[in-house]
Amino acid sequence: MAFPQQKMKPKSKSFNRPFSKIVNKKFIYTVISVFLFYLFFLRSNNDNSDSSNYNYSFSPNNPYQHLPKEHGIYNDQILTSDPLIYPSVQYAPFLRELTLSKLFQSKTDENGNLHYVYDQDLDESERLFSDDDTANGNNDNDNNDNDLNDLNYDENLNGLALNKKSKSDKNNNHDDYHDDLNIDQPYDDNEDDEIHFKKAKKSFKNHGKIVFDARNNKSPDLVIVTSLDFEKFELTHLTKVITNRIDYCKANNFGFYSRWVQEFIPILQKHNSNKSWVKLMIMREAFHAFPNSKYFWYLDQDSIIMRYDLNLINYLLAPSILNPIILKDQPIIPPSGAIHTYKNIKPQDIRFLITQNENSIDSTSFILINDIYGKAILEFWQDDLFRKYTNFQIIENALTHILQWHPVLLSKTALLPPRTIASLHSVMDLPKGGDHLHYYPGDLVVNLKDCEARKSCESEFESYYQQIDKN
Ligand SMILES: *[C@@H]1O[C@H](CO)[C@@H](O)[C@H](O)[C@H]1NC(C)=O
Ligand SMILES: *[C@@H]1O[C@H](CO)[C@@H](O)[C@H](O)[C@H]1NC(C)=O
Repeated sequence: MAFPQQKMKPKSKSFNRPFSKIVNKKFIYTVISVFLFYLFFLRSNNDNSDSSNYNYSFSPNNPYQHLPKEHGIYNDQILTSDPLIYPSVQYAPFLRELTLSKLFQSKTDENGNLHYVYDQDLDESERLFSDDDTANGNNDNDNNDNDLNDLNYDENLNGLALNKKSKSDKNNNHDDYHDDLNIDQPYDDNEDDEIHFKKAKKSFKNHGKIVFDARNNKSPDLVIVTSLDFEKFELTHLTKVITNRIDYCKANNFGFYSRWVQEFIPILQKHNSNKSWVKLMIMREAFHAFPNSKYFWYLDQDSIIMRYDLNLINYLLAPSILNPIILKDQPIIPPSGAIHTYKNIKPQDIRFLITQNENSIDSTSFILINDIYGKAILEFWQDDLFRKYTNFQIIENALTHILQWHPVLLSKTALLPPRTIASLHSVMDLPKGGDHLHYYPGDLVVNLKDCEARKSCESEFESYYQQIDKN
């Protein structure tokens, strides 16, 4: 006897699988949507977090209200026509001696914890040092005087931020920073230490305000970004790092942007975050300082550029060159992760380039392109939610998560083989021609990853520095 139901059975079974898949997918989408809405409300109701800078209620009349503030971590800015922006490294020993507790004022938060704060976040009455100490300083013959008194206040277009602009670039003695790089004569012997400490502090508090005057000067196509740590390295080493970048930039008409890691400590303290997040914060500051530049190349202070004759744009970034080099259909977690990079990615769609070594993505050297996707990747990666999460104290883990869960961002990302922009230093001899991972003479960059553990950053750097082909 053939009951209709029984006849139907095999048919319904064959539908069973795809149907349950659809249900599962629908279920997953619903869970994700509910979760996102939850985050959305959590964030927009929490006035104490960074999210207070954002306004999520959309108004077509003012779409820009959704964007973060239009300035860097400081409210003030100082314009320069010089595309090489870096801190006065000769003050590094003084800064280290001053320690953070003298460079920042502290404030007790609602939980009773002491936090470093930026001067601009203190009320007038709370400030221990006057503006003379930090910005003006006419009383100590300081030639790094940046004339903050002469700055004009100018309401910016979105009304989000109050930007200061200097009347003319000539008022601003940014060039003095460069003369300062002469380490044989780091300071005038006639001056006593107190003045050096004062100048060091002033330079520390003002360096981050300098931005490139992109309105009146041609912007460099590419900007190299490096964070510098005065607690980790000696003056001679810091000077070599900066000189290396500057020589390369001068040979190729690129810009350079560098900041002290320590400037960002008040932000890191908020979630007790790993110092390595600072590189993303400095990248954001670089985007702000060079609004019209296209490429931003972040390169750790533990890396050395070995080939001044290789122009990164012509050598790697031109789409026809990039196309055969990028790793397509490559597991994001090597060697066998489930999520792969896109097979059919077009080089002109790429906004983010980063290398991958044998174990993971490697954030010591990466390139971002200045448009809404490049900025989105940068903002996403350093979002408060990621920085709070303890498993993401290794910032590569946060990035791996983003690339595996956000196809839009993955579709703008290319993984590169390490020897393009992050060849690793090898402690062992290499076969002739090298391998796929380690530095071999002729490569653009050598990366001294983990040199701190080997306690040999400075000696390794010096030995490569001697080998640079400066032509
Ligand atoms: C957000 O923007 C809307 C529309 O412009 C405005 O009505 C509202 O007051 C703003 N909310 C905040 C917290 O600024
Ligand atoms: C901070 O980041 C570095 C570099 O990724 C890592 O080696 C270190 O273990 C991290 N520290 C913590 C406490 O997770």
